[in-house]
Amino acid sequence: MRSTLKLHTASIVLIILLQCVHFVCSIRAKTQPNKCGLTCNFPSNDSCRLDCSGRDLYDIDEEIKVSANVETIAFNDNKLESLSSKYFPKGNRFILLDFSHNNLKTIEDGAFKACNYTHILLLCHNALWDLQIDEFEGLSNLEQLDLSYNRISLWFSETFRPLQSLSQLNLAHNTITSLESESFEHLPLLEKLDLDNNELVTLPAGVFEKNPRLKYLSLKGNLFTTVPNMGLRSARSLIDLDLSSTHITQITKADFKGLSSIETLRITRINSLLGIKRLAFSDMTKLKAFYCNNNYNLRRIDQNAFIDTSTNQPLSLNEIYLRNTAISSLSKNLLPWDQLKTVDLGGNRWKCDCNLQWLRNLTLINGKSEMKCEKPWRLSGRNLFELQVDDFSCSFLDNVDSDIIGICMLIIVICMVIVVVAFVFVKLAICRKLIKRKQNCGDYIRVFPKKDRIDLEWDTSAEP
Ligand SMILES: *[C@@H]1O[C@H](CO)[C@@H](O)[C@H](O)[C@H]1NC(C)=O
Ligand SMILES: *[C@@H]1O[C@H](CO)[C@@H](O)[C@H](O)[C@H]1NC(C)=O
Ligand SMILES: *[C@@H]1O[C@H](CO)[C@@H](O)[C@H](O)[C@H]1NC(C)=O
Repeated sequence: MRSTLKLHTASIVLIILLQCVHFVCSIRAKTQPNKCGLTCNFPSNDSCRLDCSGRDLYDIDEEIKVSANVETIAFNDNKLESLSSKYFPKGNRFILLDFSHNNLKTIEDGAFKACNYTHILLLCHNALWDLQIDEFEGLSNLEQLDLSYNRISLWFSETFRPLQSLSQLNLAHNTITSLESESFEHLPLLEKLDLDNNELVTLPAGVFEKNPRLKYLSLKGNLFTTVPNMGLRSARSLIDLDLSSTHITQITKADFKGLSSIETLRITRINSLLGIKRLAFSDMTKLKAFYCNNNYNLRRIDQNAFIDTSTNQPLSLNEIYLRNTAISSLSKNLLPWDQLKTVDLGGNRWKCDCNLQWLRNLTLINGKSEMKCEKPWRLSGRNLFELQVDDFSCSFLDNVDSDIIGICMLIIVICMVIVVVAFVFVKLAICRKLIKRKQNCGDYIRVFPKKDRIDLEWDTSAEP
């Protein structure tokens, strides 16, 4: 009785072992890898994850054989160089494919043909070059595609045609130098596009014409020197735009023309940005949050920058972030300050004169302790909120810029030096001339002897 029970358990164990060996063998690699792991998070409904990450794999020998309940396959952090259909057997129901942090250079045409259940495909941190036409065939239900940190510069508009469900596309940190107006034309459901840290100089007109749902667009770290209005205008549903770390020099009246759907605008860390001009944001009637931090050379925001021309009132923002800039004063008329929920103005070097007194009365303001006055001299280093109303004066001396006084002093000193030098030169020149005439300076005195004059005066007084 006992022996049959033992035999029974032994055979069960053997069957389980054989199953495991079969499974592990199917993903044997050229180099001797660690075994892949299979974890099932929800045994009740059998959603499992096949984890082959970080195992020094260069390739797999034969097609993966996994049961239908595997939803995630992770081959991240290996050394794979090419992707083919053997990773994705027919009838698979993989929802998430993670092939990030490999050395992928090519994707064979039709590699993803059987991946019609896949929602997320991660290919970031690889070495992919230009994308071929049939690379994404079969990914009809894909929603997120991450291609960031590759070497992509070109693709055919047809390349993305199979991705009819794609809503998020990440192409950040590639080498894209230009786009065409057809670049994204086959992505009708695209909502979020990330093009950070490429080498774009401009955007072609109509580039987002066929992406009516595009809401989030990030263009950080590209080479724009002006706001690429012509291209942006075609994104009619845009609500969040990031133009930070670009090379924009100033923002003027027409720059955001036609971009009235935007609610959040980010223009931070632009070292080249010097000024924001009149009516710069006047078309952005839905703007709620304005991020303008760390623009170290931004000196001036025109007091009419946020005026909505249709109502002649400033836009009703909720949040403004204007930290660490070169701005020294702000107009009370710039925004309806009392209605804002967040006002962050720390790290600026304020000129605490009568024009800034209104700021002291503002209650809802972040980082009050960082609001220091730099000018006038007598208030330098003081906190703006510790000052009395009388301290904010506009007396003549306060108003004169210390730099201007310095320059004036310098000019005066230079003038004085010039006068002294000229005087000395003239003196020397006269002496030299006299020496040349071979007469000494004593003779000169003899020409007008003082006594003669005195004698003459004496003569007239003696007459009567
Ligand atoms: C399995 O169950 C978990 C939680 O119960 C759920 O989040 C997951 O979507 C389910 N998977 C499937 C394929 O039904
Ligand atoms: C995927 O394709 C197979 C066969 O072509 C089909 O039976 C299945 O319904 C498709 N699944 C989805 C989610 O489209
Ligand atoms: C600020 O408040 C003070 C009273 O605390 C008031 O006298 C002054 O007029 C206010 N200044 C501005 C610019 O609103």
